Amino acid sequence: MKFSNQLENKLQLLKARRVPIELGAIHAESALWLAPMSAICDAPFRLLMQELGAGATVSELISCHGINYNNEQTHRMLRILPEETNIGLQLFGEDPEAMATSAKVAQEFNPKWIDINMGCPVRKVVTKGSGSALLKDTSKLGHFFSTIKKSLEVPLTIKIRTGWDAQTINALEVIRIAREEGVEFVAIHGRTRTQQYTGYADWDLLETIASDSPLPIIGNGDLHSTPLVKNRMARTQCKALMLGRGPLRNPFLFLEPYIEENDQLVFTPADYWEVVQRYHHLLENFVDRERTMIVQLRKLIVWMAAGFPHVAQFRGQLFETQELQGILKISENYFMGLMDAGFHHKNIDLNSPFMAGGHG
Ligand SMILES: Cc1cc2nc3c(=O)[nH]c(=O)nc-3n(C[C@H](O)[C@H](O)[C@H](O)COP(=O)(O)O)c2cc1C
Repeated sequence: MKFSNQLENKLQLLKARRVPIELGAIHAESALWLAPMSAICDAPFRLLMQELGAGATVSELISCHGINYNNEQTHRMLRILPEETNIGLQLFGEDPEAMATSAKVAQEFNPKWIDINMGCPVRKVVTKGSGSALLKDTSKLGHFFSTIKKSLEVPLTIKIRTGWDAQTINALEVIRIAREEGVEFVAIHGRTRTQQYTGYADWDLLETIASDSPLPIIGNGDLHSTPLVKNRMARTQCKALMLGRGPLRNPFLFLEPYIEENDQLVFTPADYWEVVQRYHHLLENFVDRERTMIVQLRKLIVWMAAGFPHVAQFRGQLFETQELQGILKISENYFMGLMDAGFHHKNIDLNSPFMAGGHG
């Protein structure tokens, strides 16, 4: 049993309301997907989000050179759990041949598709010509895509930004080239590279691109709360939406938009505690080092507690504790204590800065 009957019933009720979609050859149970996030979207986290309603997931970015040099740690990042039903592996690199070779290796791990990272703004990545630097010289893209595509049997997809900077917004041009070369869909983070994570994702621009695009578009950026997701779902031209930082603070973000007024349904602190326990279980079967497990688990617990009362004090206690069992006990006391005290709703301050940096 993954979750208690009580939580499982809520999940099943809402999952049944999701509408399946087809993006080219790719099928998904829902239009709300988990965005790729480095050092977060490993197999246990992706499976957890799938169990909590994400229609599809994408791995963190994985270096094509790391794969080709047989780097052990890079190869570990390619692992997919058998229960993961709809997962893309994301690769990054600048050289078409190296990308093609690594994509062939990645394909052996059974992803449903291979994705290319064309949105990473991080200096170390762009100075080598990969990530969002690929948006700069579109004359090379046709050859880049076709070389990678030829090496694959599964579909090829890309994740981009709207352009390099405000003066060179070129998403539609990139999309048209991608279509010529048989790319299946394009996910777009609605910021330019220069913006990094400042300001807001430009949803007006994303909607225009989506309605003019010859390929299915997945819109992404700043959909951090249930009202924001619900609102966007109701009027978007995008075929799907990707949620990144939002589900870290609210793991029920893939399903809450399907709650109807009459349901009287809320996800309580007890449900959050179940999510922690499930993640612990999935990590336990996946990572070899307890230290890695503690780091991953503690990160998620801290994010998930955001918006509940006395969170600063709880966070302090968690970071003072180095033992896994201690971390679990403190967390149980915190979440179940909130239940006993009658606190059922969280209240996240969406204006507070949260993880303003990442690889896409
Ligand atoms: C910590 C972190 C790591 C990220 N790593 C990746 C990555 O590996 N590949 C990628 O394409 N995007 C990556 N991104 C970008 C996200 O996929 C997404 O485009 C961005 O966070 C905007 O969406 P959001 O506002 O829903 O978080 C990362 C973002 C964050 C915050």
